[in-house]
Amino acid sequence: MIRAACGINGLFITLEGGEGAGKSTQSKALAAALSGQGREVVSTREPGSTPLGDRLREILLGIDSELDPLAEAMLFAAARAELVSTVIKPALDLGDFVICDRYSDSTVAYQGYARGVDLMSIGQLNQIATGGLVSDLAVLLDLPVAEGLRRSGDSDRFKSEDAAFHERVRAGYLALAEHDAERWLVVDATQPPETVTATILERVETLL
Ligand code: TYD
Repeated sequence: MIRAACGINGLFITLEGGEGAGKSTQSKALAAALSGQGREVVSTREPGSTPLGDRLREILLGIDSELDPLAEAMLFAAARAELVSTVIKPALDLGDFVICDRYSDSTVAYQGYARGVDLMSIGQLNQIATGGLVSDLAVLLDLPVAEGLRRSGDSDRFKSEDAAFHERVRAGYLALAEHDAERWLVVDATQPPETVTATILERVETLL
């Protein structure tokens, strides 16, 4: 396993959670706060943030038929491989901070726990896609499924899955966080956004 903090000041932070948890809001707020401290910050989201990733995002979120769960996991992994090699790794090598809105833990929670692809295969896939690059800090923005779906609506293939699917996603994330409390920070995402940001920044400080 390769921890990202290989540059002098670089740090790899991933934001995870179910639908409507506020990841993109937190990503922006964290980037603003860290840039304000004079850090170079690269913000990415998955799937996306590369030309290939953007194309795969259209397929993965937009297609109106079911996909085989393993094929789906492999497409997310392909987008991730492209993102790691062309954006994340180069930025970390320069000592930049990287904030990624979703990363390999999303595939564990969604394709593993929620869709039922065996977790060993997901682990192997993530290992191949990332070359073993794991985030220094994974933030779980946790909130009740009903609240998340109320906030996010049912505008894509994942958001329109039933509540049981989203409960499995949430339970999967909580299991991941429980098994690696050192890397994970679980934040109650029903709190005001500024409170959530402050809690994350407090934890980031301890990693510097
Ligand atoms: P997201 O960007 O969070 O959508 P939005 O910002 O519109 O809420 O993520 C896209 C969807 O893709 C989300 O429903 C979760 C899903 N997803 C997976 O199922 N597996 C993965 O590995 C990733 C990265 C995302």
